[in-house]
Amino acid sequence: MSSRFPAARPRRLRRTAGLRSLAAQTSVRPGNLVLPMFVKEGIAEPQPVASMPGVLQHTRDSLRKAATEAVEAGVGGLILFGIPAVKDSRGSAADDPAGIIQLALRDLTAEVGSDTVLMADLCLCEYTDHGHCGVLTDVLDVDNDATLERYASIACAQAVAGAHVVAPSGMMDGQVGAIRSALDEVGYAEIAICAYSAKYASAFYGPFRDAAEGAPLFGDRSGYQQDPRGATEALREVALDLDEGADIVMVKPALAYLDVISRVADAVTVPVAAYQVSGEYAMVEAAAANGWLDRDRAIMETLIAIRRAGADIILTYWAAEVARRLSR
Ligand code: PBG
Repeated sequence: MSSRFPAARPRRLRRTAGLRSLAAQTSVRPGNLVLPMFVKEGIAEPQPVASMPGVLQHTRDSLRKAATEAVEAGVGGLILFGIPAVKDSRGSAADDPAGIIQLALRDLTAEVGSDTVLMADLCLCEYTDHGHCGVLTDVLDVDNDATLERYASIACAQAVAGAHVVAPSGMMDGQVGAIRSALDEVGYAEIAICAYSAKYASAFYGPFRDAAEGAPLFGDRSGYQQDPRGATEALREVALDLDEGADIVMVKPALAYLDVISRVADAVTVPVAAYQVSGEYAMVEAAAANGWLDRDRAIMETLIAIRRAGADIILTYWAAEVARRLSR
């Protein structure tokens, strides 16, 4: 007997907040969120980043304080970016034991090192005077293999300074393998590698270049970062990184690449991270500042989407705020 009324009624489970919560499939947990933080050498006061309202370039002191607050709020980790006072063609400050990121890692190891995961972004673009992620050849191309030697040395400096995890983000071929063997050789076999495996050449990194002061002086990064039109290439990059010893694989950006996150999550058995990048942050903050969308709901919805796509770990500039909100 068919009735003119439907028997299946999905709306039954949407009727109350309790039913919706009971049936919820996806959650965002503070412990899966990682807060990216910037520390700059030679400044007396923290500096606001114009294109990222609420984000600061920290002094060593203000970094310590903000890191403690984030850890108290419940974030699972911090990822550090250093901005040196002096840049040169090989990015010498990146592996200088007295370079800003190493000093900051030591500070944070003392301050919160046993309560959180300290990650170090491992790249050269903040440290080179030309702004590229590697060293250059005579014809101003990024020299892949010469760059690997620099990355290996930076990884060791970061490990010695206290990083639990190094996160190579330069998209050079073989970077994970080069870093893994360097760490193993100097007795740091326990240091994990979170590989920015599928990192696309994206317009959404725009505001980050204000924050980290690493915009390329000429050209762009499309000779080493992935072309947005490709998806299966991400699987190839991930497979290579796993083969070379990556412990966590990352997709970046997040929101415009949810399909890639989903495919990577289906393909691997290691944790998958996604980076909700500066432009994703700026987009929501700018629209919210204009009163065009509900900021808090939009933030949670993007994080849920990234988790739903299959990311275990999310790097987000909202990490501390969201962690605080979730534990209220
Ligand atoms: C360094 C690096 C970048 C980001 C993270 N690490 C910039 C880039 O590749 O151009 C972007 C992060 C963001 O936009 O929030 N290679």
